[in-house]
Amino acid sequence: MKVFVILPAAGIGTRMAAAQPKQFLSLVGLPILIHSLRAFAAVPRVSAIYVAVRQQEIARVEAQIAEFLPGNFQPGHSHPPIHVVSGGDTRQDSVSNALAALAAAPEDIVLVHDAVRPLIDSATIDRTIDAVAQHGAAIVGLPAIDTVKQVERTAHGALITATIPREYVVLAQTPQGFRCSLLRRAFAEAAADGFQGTDEASIVERAGHPVAVVPGSPTNLKITQPGDLALAEFHLAQRA
Ligand code: C5P
Repeated sequence: MKVFVILPAAGIGTRMAAAQPKQFLSLVGLPILIHSLRAFAAVPRVSAIYVAVRQQEIARVEAQIAEFLPGNFQPGHSHPPIHVVSGGDTRQDSVSNALAALAAAPEDIVLVHDAVRPLIDSATIDRTIDAVAQHGAAIVGLPAIDTVKQVERTAHGALITATIPREYVVLAQTPQGFRCSLLRRAFAEAAADGFQGTDEASIVERAGHPVAVVPGSPTNLKITQPGDLALAEFHLAQRA
């Protein structure tokens, strides 16, 4: 059983209001995407990594990989091969393109990770792989700490329609992992039905397969808004 990783990195990142997509912004001197790549490249069980970027970014990303991920960026360890593929207009399209390129067997494991979550740690990646091996599908999820409200959006702002007991809620993070055959079937069904999900679990849930949850961490943050970069730098400094 092999483990493959897909990093969707073809977003435009409009919420960040930056000159370039957030996955290419610098975090302590390295592009965010490179931090994410290094985290997975350092996990011995990972066989290969597929990064999906916009067609016009492929050459730039290949050059960055050659510069920042030389064959053995960690002493004594050569990393798994990294392939750069063309992404699509939605995150789902980007993952679908990478999934089509993957040289994986049905029982192999596929992990999908947001390229813009650069602080993912090896222990969480390992726990996710173990949970997928056991359950067929597993994601990293953060228990809700705040009280969770369901709202209706109106012209006058949001109005609460219900309070959701927080023991029933986790906030979905990544990595999200699946047996390759399950992920391919779920993606094919979603495409046939015109379903667009904001994560892979939602696509697998609708295919009728249970998805387990591995505890996540608030430090596995998704760089989304201005201010998130400073927070990520703070967490990296704490780690060092
Ligand atoms: O936009 P969002 O924050 O949900 O993006 C999550 C991840 O999906 C990012 O790493 C982004 O680059 C990626 N993405 C993609 N293709 C798209 C849109 C987003 O690979 N068309």
